[in-house]
Amino acid sequence: MKQPADLLVTNAGQLCTVAGHGGRPAAGPAQGEAGVVERGAVAAYQGKVVAAGPEAEVLASVEPEPDAVRIDAAGRLVTPGLVDAHTHLCFAGWRAEEFGLRIRGAAYLDILKAGGGILQTVRATRAASEDELVAGLIERLEEILLLGTTTVEIKSGYGLALGAEVKQLQAVRRAAAAAVQDVVPTFLGAHAVPPEFQGRGREYAMMVAQAMVPAIASAGLAEYVDVFCEDGVFGLEETRRILEAARRFGLGVKVHADEVVHLGGARLAAELEAVSADHLVVTPPEDWEALRAAGTIAVLLPATSFFLMKEKHAPARGLIEAGVPVALATDYNPGTQPGGSLPLVMSIACLTLRMTPAETLVAVTLNAAHAIGRGERVGSLEPGKEADLVVWNCPTLDHLPYRMGVRLADTVVKRGRVVVRGGRRVTDSGGVTG
Ligand code: NIG
Ligand code: FE
Repeated sequence: MKQPADLLVTNAGQLCTVAGHGGRPAAGPAQGEAGVVERGAVAAYQGKVVAAGPEAEVLASVEPEPDAVRIDAAGRLVTPGLVDAHTHLCFAGWRAEEFGLRIRGAAYLDILKAGGGILQTVRATRAASEDELVAGLIERLEEILLLGTTTVEIKSGYGLALGAEVKQLQAVRRAAAAAVQDVVPTFLGAHAVPPEFQGRGREYAMMVAQAMVPAIASAGLAEYVDVFCEDGVFGLEETRRILEAARRFGLGVKVHADEVVHLGGARLAAELEAVSADHLVVTPPEDWEALRAAGTIAVLLPATSFFLMKEKHAPARGLIEAGVPVALATDYNPGTQPGGSLPLVMSIACLTLRMTPAETLVAVTLNAAHAIGRGERVGSLEPGKEADLVVWNCPTLDHLPYRMGVRLADTVVKRGRVVVRGGRRVTDSGGVTG
């Protein structure tokens, strides 16, 4: 019996399904297996993929409904919708002056110590109303939809007090309800020591662990808890207390680890069976095996290292060779990466981390989905998964990172619905905006 289909994408010059990884993140040699099919097709029914692979096989297995939506990929590249596993999308105000200061030599952590950086965004975000935060979120979610991002993690962390963190996460919840994308919320109350706790960082960390985590968990406002574990921000012991509290309350854990100084955040992430350890710029080889053994995904943020003008880069090749699944994310935030282009991150990852185009695609789809607990639903084009896909204005996967900085997303499909066509947003009424 043929399967019904209400969406059919045909004539893909190259289709990358990223399928066949057995429901697990891709590690080691499998990191480079993007499921490349020449002349591919994808069929979906009621928002879910029913077939993806060589066009002849797909066409033989489905019976399109008379009013099925048909997309002719016209020889171009088709991939799963992209998944951004690490963003700080909920903020008010930009920090262009800090950009200028850094170019002239100021260090990121010194700016933070002097009350700027993250703390500047904290002042602006505390002053913003929940409605203003929702509006900013929707604007940025729309912006990244045009870049091919169909699932996104969003952290709080610019409130640094229970009320202001709740305001941020409530804004995320409201924006998520209005957005096309699937949104995964993360509580990052330990992003910096707030001004009213200056010099009492430990006390603040204990408050996060003992009061804020339980409140956020019982309000159901976050799926994960993250900590900025860094020299002069939160130390190992403070990070442990917060993340242990998160686990007690049934939340998943993530760590901003080893970005500037090697404190051992990655090792702690492995010990606590964190779903991911993020940044890892200075994580040494002796910590890689712990990540692999724990199944913790390395979420690398090379656009951030580039933006901070770092000469040192995350050890992507070593991590892949050690069998650690690698994901890539934008880190979209007003300080260290004020944009949300995953294709740009793929380019930077190829050039600075020496990842191959196929490895970067797996890193922004399947592995990114697993890094935010969505590996069973999105991240690859295989039967049963959500029909999230992108038709790119280029013929092969290599072109995507190669055409650095060029907006190539042509058609974006979310849960079987066309939401971007010809690079422009399609409204529910079928019209085109923007
Ligand atoms: O992941 N490292 C800490 N947090 C963000 C930056 C946030 C900011 O500067 O506003 C990051 O790079
Ligand atoms: Fe971050």
